[in-house]
Amino acid sequence: MSTRHRLGILLSGRGSNFLAIADSVAAGRIPNAEIAVVISNKADALGLAAARERGLNALAIEADGRKRAEHDGAIIAALREHRIELICLAGYMRLLSSGFIQAFPERILNIHPSLLPAFPGLDAQHQAFDYGVKVAGCTVHFVDEQLDHGVIILQRAVAVHEADDAHALSARILAEEHIAYTEAIARVLSGAYVIEGRRYVRKQ
Ligand code: GAR
Repeated sequence: MSTRHRLGILLSGRGSNFLAIADSVAAGRIPNAEIAVVISNKADALGLAAARERGLNALAIEADGRKRAEHDGAIIAALREHRIELICLAGYMRLLSSGFIQAFPERILNIHPSLLPAFPGLDAQHQAFDYGVKVAGCTVHFVDEQLDHGVIILQRAVAVHEADDAHALSARILAEEHIAYTEAIARVLSGAYVIEGRRYVRKQ
């Protein structure tokens, strides 16, 4: 019987973070883990096609006009069916219902392309660029019921260069996202860290 950590990936788009996680699982940088299912709310998501090409279980579960709780219920059922231990949102561009979040306490991770709590919400890289920050970056955090708010697992920073436009900055952040997500998942699965208030710290 497999005792590997079973990851579930939720995505809506191109899936570069998913691919980085998949590469890390294959290379053993996320030890003793497997991607048990990839789910998208968009049937035409490039990330879903990439998951199929890799021979992974890849499911499209679209909202189809259903209310959020009902749509989330279908995704929860699929995650349970695949006995998912840890859910990784990887460019999943739909808010989760509180029922979803409560169904998997401290078991849902998200990656956000800013140094939270700065620039939550959409187009974070553009928000940061337009604001004129000199340091930008990305955050991997647990998902709670407030948008881009849960306990921070880790962050990686990048410098903003004079010659940057928002596109160049986004690309530099994305490269760090791919490193950050692997490190964060490995950290969570290691069991060596605990949440203390808002801090995620190594167990004493
Ligand atoms: C990533 O930059 C991720 O941080 C962002 O969407 C992109 C998905 O790219 N997520 C959010 O903005 C969530 N608030 P990918 O599909 O190539 O992984």
